[in-house]
Amino acid sequence: MKVLGIESSCDETGVAIYDSQEGLLAQALHTQVNLHAVYGGVVPELASRDHIRLLPVLIRQTLREAGLCVADMDAVAYTAGPGLAGALLVGASVSEALALAAGIPALPVHHLEGHLLSPLLSDNPPAFPFVALLVSGGHTQLMRVADVGDYELLGETLDDAAGEAFDKTAKILGLGYPGGPQLAALAARGRAGRFKLPRPMLHSGDFDFSFSGLKTAVLNVVSSSDWDPAFSADLAADFQQAVVDVLAAKSVAALTHTGLQALVVAGGVGANLALRNGLDTAVARRGGRVFYPEPMLCTDNGVMIAFAGAQRLMRGERPPAEPAVRVRPRWPLSENRG
Ligand code: KG4
Ligand code: ZN
Repeated sequence: MKVLGIESSCDETGVAIYDSQEGLLAQALHTQVNLHAVYGGVVPELASRDHIRLLPVLIRQTLREAGLCVADMDAVAYTAGPGLAGALLVGASVSEALALAAGIPALPVHHLEGHLLSPLLSDNPPAFPFVALLVSGGHTQLMRVADVGDYELLGETLDDAAGEAFDKTAKILGLGYPGGPQLAALAARGRAGRFKLPRPMLHSGDFDFSFSGLKTAVLNVVSSSDWDPAFSADLAADFQQAVVDVLAAKSVAALTHTGLQALVVAGGVGANLALRNGLDTAVARRGGRVFYPEPMLCTDNGVMIAFAGAQRLMRGERPPAEPAVRVRPRWPLSENRG
């Protein structure tokens, strides 16, 4: 089964062809980082226009690389939410139109499902059931994943997402956009332990998170301290350590609660090396194991959408009978049952 996957929910335009027999056949990815950097964050209208400009180019390029045409596909899978409404509409319209023209189905895919199934694409994939920690720019969630389409939300952030906290803290420290990777690079040059930052909701007894207070704590340190050469790097290291401590403790608690041993980490913040070390250590201590997507699949891409679409098709799911360009900028994953 061959699926053309299209991702356009935020600031990455991703296209891929996944074959359930042969695996990934081709992919193309364009990041809009340079387009938005000057504004310090994603400008939705510019994102939509750039997706319009690049999707046809990347689709043609991906098909050519695979030596296939759209009619060779069994379906077109596209991100239908959550994400920026205009950006989602571009991918949805292009996908529905392509599918209609080629006489194949178009399948709306949940962006977070794409992220959390992406570790299954690695050489050594986890088996169901597992606990998934989704840490992206817009979401921080712990889920119990019993199968494709069987997701139980254990807890989530009550305010900022982990990636959002990285991005906002990076801004406070004068770093550019996107802040997460830059803050991580700065933290690698600093030493944690100099500043006393809170570990929000560490002992709340549930699986929820809160990161906005941590960002405010960083702001307070910045406005009440004298600057020295190591200041920013040390503060970045302490911020990162606080996030890692909370994410690791709650992930371990979720494994204990569910009685499971496998933790799957997905979403952009999953690329963070300090987080990976913290999770590996904490989970190994209780005899469990952590699974990550390939580094290139941590952030947004078309591969995970093609893969999630193929999983759903292989389980017999069929797209809505009436083709329609519909997107869901807000879409709880637990409402996306298989
Ligand atoms: O999953 P993703 O690509 O897009 C969303 O669906 O949100 O995640 C993007 C988020 C951004 O907030 C970015 O700053 C963060 O992931 N991120 C990182 C790292 N790489 C990306 N945060 C911390 N450390 C990193 N190495
Ligand atoms: Zn994402």
